[in-house]
Amino acid sequence: MRYQLAPMFHRPYLLNDLSQKLIESHYENNYGGALRRLNAITQELASCDFKQAPGYVVNELKREELIAMNSTLLHELYFASLGLAVKMSATFADVLARDFGSVERWRDEFIAMGNALAGGSGWVLLVYLPRDHRLINQYASEHAHGIAGGIPILALDMYEHAYHIDFGANAKAYVDAFMRNINWTAVEARYEDALKVEPPRPLVQPEFGDVPGVTVEEVKAMLDGNEPLQLIDVRPQHYVSRMKDMIEGAIWRDPERVREWAGELSKSEPVVVFCMYGFDMGCKTAIALRDAGFDAKYMKGGHWSWRSFGGPVKQHV
Ligand SMILES: [Fe+2]
Repeated sequence: MRYQLAPMFHRPYLLNDLSQKLIESHYENNYGGALRRLNAITQELASCDFKQAPGYVVNELKREELIAMNSTLLHELYFASLGLAVKMSATFADVLARDFGSVERWRDEFIAMGNALAGGSGWVLLVYLPRDHRLINQYASEHAHGIAGGIPILALDMYEHAYHIDFGANAKAYVDAFMRNINWTAVEARYEDALKVEPPRPLVQPEFGDVPGVTVEEVKAMLDGNEPLQLIDVRPQHYVSRMKDMIEGAIWRDPERVREWAGELSKSEPVVVFCMYGFDMGCKTAIALRDAGFDAKYMKGGHWSWRSFGGPVKQHV
C-alpha cells in the first residue's frame, strides 16, 4: 500500500461531549474508508494505460484520487485537532488578533462557518498562507477545495457523519462541542511548522542587479498621501501610442531619450519609473537615473500590475 494509516492522535474516551462511539465510527468508516479508497484508486492508476484510456476514465480516476487524498489528509488533521482541551496561549491569541482583529472575531467567523454548513457538507479550516504570512478561515467543500499553497492547521469536519450519532441534526451543538475540545498545543505546533515554509519565490531580475523597486500599492499610497513623487511612464513609444491608457499622476517620457529629459526632474524628490511589466525598460531607466544622481526606483510589475491591482488610469490622446 502506498499510503499508510495514521494512528488515532488522541484518546477518544477523554473528549468532552463527543462520544467514543462517534469518534471510533468516524475514524474507521470515514477516515479509514478514505484511505482504503485512496490506495485502491492508486492501484488502478498504476495499471492505467494513459495513452489508450478514454478521457472520462482518466478524469474520474484523478478526481476520485483528489477527493480520497484530501479526505484522508483532512481527517488526519481533524483527529489531530482534538484532544484534551488545552487552552490557547497568549502568543497565539496575539497571532489571531493580528489576522482577524481579535480571538473572538476569529472564533465567531469559524463557528458561523461551521453552523452555515449544517445540513450540507464540507470542512472549515484554519489555514496559514506563506505567501501573505497570515492565517485565514476557509471552506473546503467535497474535500477538494484547499487554498493553493495554504497549510491547514485546524480542521472542523461538517459532514453529517461527524456528528449524527451524538447530535442528530443538531449541528450547532456539535460545533460548540468541537470548539471545547480543540487541542491548542497541537494547533500551535502546526502553526510553528507552517511558519518555516518559505513563501513563493518573488520575481527575480538578476540581470538588473539590485536596483530598488517599489510595489504598486506603495506608489498608490504615495499618490493618495500627496507625498512628493515624480512618477514616470517609460513604456516604449509605439506601445503608448497604441494603448491610450495612462496611470493617473504619471507623465510619459521616451525611455530612449532619458539623457534629454532627466534634466527636467528634481533630485530632491523621489522618482519612480515603470514600463509595461516592471522590468527591462523600468529597471534600465531607474539605473540610468540613479547613475545621474537621482533617487530613482522602478515600480514592480509596471503598468499591467497597476491595472491588475485596480489602480486608476486615464485616457490620453
Ligand atoms: Fe469525516
